[in-house]
Amino acid sequence: MKWFTLLSLLFVALVVAEEERNLPLAESCNLESCQLPDCRCSSTSTPGGLPLRDVPQFVTVTFDDGVNILNIETYRKILYGRRNSNQCPAGATFYINHEYTNYQLVNELYNNGFEIALHSISHQTNQEYWSQATYEDMVREFADQKTQMSHFANIPRSEIKGIRMPFLQLAGNSSFLVIAEHGFLYDSSWPTVQFVGSGLWPYSLDYSSIQDCVISPCPTASIPKAWVSPMISWLDLNGSPCAMVDSCFAFPDREDEEAWFRFILTNFERHYLNSRAPFGFYVHEWYLSTYPAIMNALVRFMNLVNELEDTFMVTESEVIDWVRDPIPVNEYKEKPCKSFAPMPCAATSCGPLRAEHNNLDYWMAICNTCPRTYPWLGNPLGL
Ligand SMILES: *[C@@H]1O[C@H](CO)[C@@H](O)[C@H](O)[C@H]1NC(C)=O
Ligand SMILES: [Zn+2]
Repeated sequence: MKWFTLLSLLFVALVVAEEERNLPLAESCNLESCQLPDCRCSSTSTPGGLPLRDVPQFVTVTFDDGVNILNIETYRKILYGRRNSNQCPAGATFYINHEYTNYQLVNELYNNGFEIALHSISHQTNQEYWSQATYEDMVREFADQKTQMSHFANIPRSEIKGIRMPFLQLAGNSSFLVIAEHGFLYDSSWPTVQFVGSGLWPYSLDYSSIQDCVISPCPTASIPKAWVSPMISWLDLNGSPCAMVDSCFAFPDREDEEAWFRFILTNFERHYLNSRAPFGFYVHEWYLSTYPAIMNALVRFMNLVNELEDTFMVTESEVIDWVRDPIPVNEYKEKPCKSFAPMPCAATSCGPLRAEHNNLDYWMAICNTCPRTYPWLGNPLGL
């Protein structure tokens, strides 16, 4: 009996390892068989073939890294209470990593209607770890982080849909396989510098991607149910691409609000006046709090967006929802706002909690009972 169990375990292990090596190679996209809502070829054409004048211009503002009592001040100040011209709440997306994150504040962000997405448990700085990450590594970093986030911030698992790799370092097929197999919807880590003027819309990975691979390895297997939300680069003052706003090389004087406002608008207009592909403002909070002129320029830009009748500041998953079911902007404007149930937080402070991976003590602010030890890879709940 024991022998039998061992054998079947061995068999399962082999099958899992095998699955990783033998993913079907993605073939070039077949428009006939790749149809919305579950499949979309990578392409610059508008979803559903809508004429440009019927396409809503989406704006996605996203913030990466831990949420804490300092950066929440910026989020409260510039994001809370915003509405689009259709009177629905304006969205933003947070890619959150675990270390030093205050989960009570994540719960607050969620309750204010923002999207909570994942940015890994460890966020380790070793780039090679990410580029070589196996499927099992990605399960420990992201699938386990969903369990962790849902538990400590008291957010429904089904509302955690997106991931962004640290340093935008892709890991070939493995992170996308986790998206498909662990109930996620999309990745937003893959920059494009080739499809900026005529922007690339989100697409699914059933078929091979036409997207340029900026930080290899990129996925080449066929992975149905995994959506890519391309990070369409900005062009800096010299015309060089930057995926994150705070990684542009030739930028306007950081004290010059007016110049920054124009810089943002110039990049926005490349989308608005051309392909209408979603426009991303991807940034880290420190950049805004360090340079108030840039924060003010962003606020002015968001104020403008919130006035425009055909432009909507939304979360990343709202963009994908629209791509999967594209309706003309006139219809979109009339739709009822997304319904939404706030989640309570049984606020608890915990610590010191010893971390077994580095022997440091941590404190945690959570919406649950205290863990035994500091949660980390392999033990996301700190049991
Ligand atoms: C992804 O899967 C394809 C198809 O099995 C394979 O050819 C490719 O080498 C894989 N990519 C990586 C980085 O492992
Ligand atoms: Zn990061």
